[in-house]
Amino acid sequence: MQDLLPLGGVIRKLWIGEADKYRDHLLRLDPESRHSRFGGGVADDFVRNYVEVTISLEAVVHGFFVDGVMRGAAELRQLGIHSPGQAEAAMSVEKPWQSHGVGSALLRRTLLAARNRGFRHLHMACLANNRRMQQLARKFDAELSFDFGSVVGEVESMRANPLSLMQELIADHHGFATAILDLQSRLLRA
Ligand SMILES: CC(C)(COP(=O)(O)OP(=O)(O)OC[C@H]1O[C@@H](n2cnc3c(N)ncnc32)[C@H](O)[C@@H]1OP(=O)(O)O)[C@@H](O)C(=O)NCCC(=O)NCCS
Repeated sequence: MQDLLPLGGVIRKLWIGEADKYRDHLLRLDPESRHSRFGGGVADDFVRNYVEVTISLEAVVHGFFVDGVMRGAAELRQLGIHSPGQAEAAMSVEKPWQSHGVGSALLRRTLLAARNRGFRHLHMACLANNRRMQQLARKFDAELSFDFGSVVGEVESMRANPLSLMQELIADHHGFATAILDLQSRLLRA
């Protein structure tokens, strides 16, 4: 599953021990994007705590990396033990990389991961004025239902099958290989 990504970027899962990359990415979001991502203005400490909780909940986080720096992220986490088959997704792309297809590529990867984990319903909460996120969700056939000023996009995912499992495996393998090559070339340049 290859997406055309800007500036030689690569999408791969976040590895154990890389929480700081996710935290730094979220802290770098411009105020407007941070507001849209968290549904309101939040302080740096909130973002730091948020990442700690996310990692402890074993969320699946896909990152968009350019030169080893995380510039975009999509998070997938189970809604709770009382909601089997339901998960929520949240996304962020740093301003200079927005509107280049990164969000679409991240969401496509997240939907595949959701499908392979048996999540049939994916919830995406975003502010009512967040047209771009709504457009993005619509691209993946989200049904949008309005609720108290925020929009909850619901995507129904297909059942996992051997092909979808294989697609995720290949994407992970490709992400790992690209990251190693990227690291090597940056070490050589240093
Ligand atoms: C929402 C967000 C993740 C989308 O990522 P992105 O990389 O900009 O998205 P894409 O480039 O893949 O564009 C997705 C769709 O949005 C729409 N879009 C893109 N740029 C747009 C713009 N400037 N204005 C309005 N709609 C736009 C298009 O329909 C596009 O699909 P298309 O290119 O096939 O026509 C990103 O803008 C972001 O991080 N915003 C701040 C945080 C946020 O809002 N998160 C969502 C809440 S969880």
